[in-house]
Amino acid sequence: MCGIVGYIGNRDAKEIILDSLQRLEYRGYDSAGIALIDEKNHMVVQKEVGRIDNLRNEVYKYNGEVESQLGIGHTRWATHGRVNEQNAHPHCDSKKRFAIVHNGIIENYQVLRKILTDKGHTFSSETDSEVLVHLIEEFYKEEERNLQSAVVEALKVVEGTYGLAAICIDEPYKIVGARNGSPLVLGIGENEMFIASDVNAIMPYTKNVVYIEDKEVVVIKSEKFKTYTLDYQRIEKSITVVDWDVDAISKGDYETFMLKEIFEQPNAIVDALRGRVHARDGAVKFGGLDLTPEHAKNIDKVIITACGTSWHSALVGKYMIERFAEIPVEVDYASEFRYRNPVLGKNNLVIVISQSGETADTLEALREAKRKGAKVIGITNVIGSTIAKESDGGIYLHAGPEIGVASTKAFLNQLITLAMLAIYIGRLKNMPLYEGERLLEELALIPQKIAEVLEQADKIKEIALKYVHTTNFLYLGRGFNYPIALEGALKLKEISYIHAEGYPAAEMKHGPIALIDENMPVVFIAPKDSLYEKIMSNIEEVKARAGRVIVVTDLDDSVMRQKADDIIYVPSTIEEFSPMINIIPLQLIAYYIARAKELDVDKPRNLAKSVTVE
Ligand code: M6R
Repeated sequence: MCGIVGYIGNRDAKEIILDSLQRLEYRGYDSAGIALIDEKNHMVVQKEVGRIDNLRNEVYKYNGEVESQLGIGHTRWATHGRVNEQNAHPHCDSKKRFAIVHNGIIENYQVLRKILTDKGHTFSSETDSEVLVHLIEEFYKEEERNLQSAVVEALKVVEGTYGLAAICIDEPYKIVGARNGSPLVLGIGENEMFIASDVNAIMPYTKNVVYIEDKEVVVIKSEKFKTYTLDYQRIEKSITVVDWDVDAISKGDYETFMLKEIFEQPNAIVDALRGRVHARDGAVKFGGLDLTPEHAKNIDKVIITACGTSWHSALVGKYMIERFAEIPVEVDYASEFRYRNPVLGKNNLVIVISQSGETADTLEALREAKRKGAKVIGITNVIGSTIAKESDGGIYLHAGPEIGVASTKAFLNQLITLAMLAIYIGRLKNMPLYEGERLLEELALIPQKIAEVLEQADKIKEIALKYVHTTNFLYLGRGFNYPIALEGALKLKEISYIHAEGYPAAEMKHGPIALIDENMPVVFIAPKDSLYEKIMSNIEEVKARAGRVIVVTDLDDSVMRQKADDIIYVPSTIEEFSPMINIIPLQLIAYYIARAKELDVDKPRNLAKSVTVE
């Protein structure tokens, strides 16, 4: 949610900042801007509505000659204030001595804006962020020339969240960064430094990074950096070497990141299973899971909390944990969990799931659970993310960087991780060895089965293209595949802007059946499991009302062939793992419909990859 970058070194700052912003664009993309300090120590600012490509063209048109080795940039996902040039970052004071980029929300900005306006500051945007730069101007002491202290004093009066970078023309050799609730990472190069809201931004330049923590301030010069508390106490930080390879954040031969990520799923699962599954012993081993056998045996309830797609994986996780570990599970939207009074017992286990590890609602739910004394396991994809750090124990998804805003491979790896976790706890409780072996052997076959579904991509595309002009869709599934109906509908909504609803199939007759007519396609997820016959009756009900039926199934059944308009056959697995296979055609249907509508599937309108505001 908003991306920020900064550079200081010997190279052309504008090119590095524009390039880094491009890799951050998935965090927000309604407008973007850049501020550079040029060789005459002037602040050069350019802001544009739209994508980074647009900003790049305009920067080279109007400021292509500017020589600068220091600057900051921002790509915006609007919260306060419309999408226009004035509201785009960087924000400057009226004399253009200071510039800031900010990610987060300043909650008391209205009060501060009033105070600053009364003192003579002139605001040029509607944003909450702009108060920061005016506060910095206000606190800057000419005699001291200390941008760090001006930033710190400004931060002492703001309430809210921030990941920010600030520069000043009177100190054209430093960037000051600070973090509270919005991620910030420092990249260390050779006589050059980078700052960004996300390691993806700076991966081609350096793999040596320092994660800045909440309430920390970093002062960056080209050859060194120093970190401090908000009370000016020095903090020593360790350098982390990020082992992602740069190919992981490029599209390669694929037309979009989303398609690449869909096709990466078999390998992503192998990465998640690697070293953890020992089928012959019926055992799962997790490195970072701080769960003793004693504790596992005593767990009497599990609460899983997450948002969006991660919430859908949580629902599948509920079915798995209840089935394999025989523990009751509640699933809660993180945004609801944090604002009610969740009753947590001493033997409850809380699991939070988040691809980004930065989702504000999920992070706050984690904190609330910890305040209540619960043990919290974080399941995240982004190494070093806030949720990963603040959890008592954690499991990484190992899906690799997910750039497409619509989550695909991270979802799959959430399912596989939850399956492993359910088996792990199950084995610590009552699950017999032979059952552990059977499940883990089956789990190991999932990547190959997904690869077989992906081989049918052309056929799935043909089916999808029949429905490009449809305006509504219904997705129905039962049991383990009810959450897959929800996720299939979400994927379609997110990237094709077609209205879609997911329902438990049997609920259709309690309301949604009123919507069924010849214009309503209904996607049924119908594996040959204990509920197959029941879902067949639901299909009959739709056909009786002239609805169009698309079926995803592993059974070649003559009755189904007569009833369905389109059938996508997938390989069989056990009921509990079938969601991992059945989601693949639904991702592809959404994808091909959206592409046929010529939509930008990697950056769907109004969305951002990681939602770091409430
Ligand atoms: O990073 P998280 O998993 O915490 O994100 C949660 C949701 O914002 C996310 O799943 C969202 O629904 C995606 N756009 C789904 O494709």
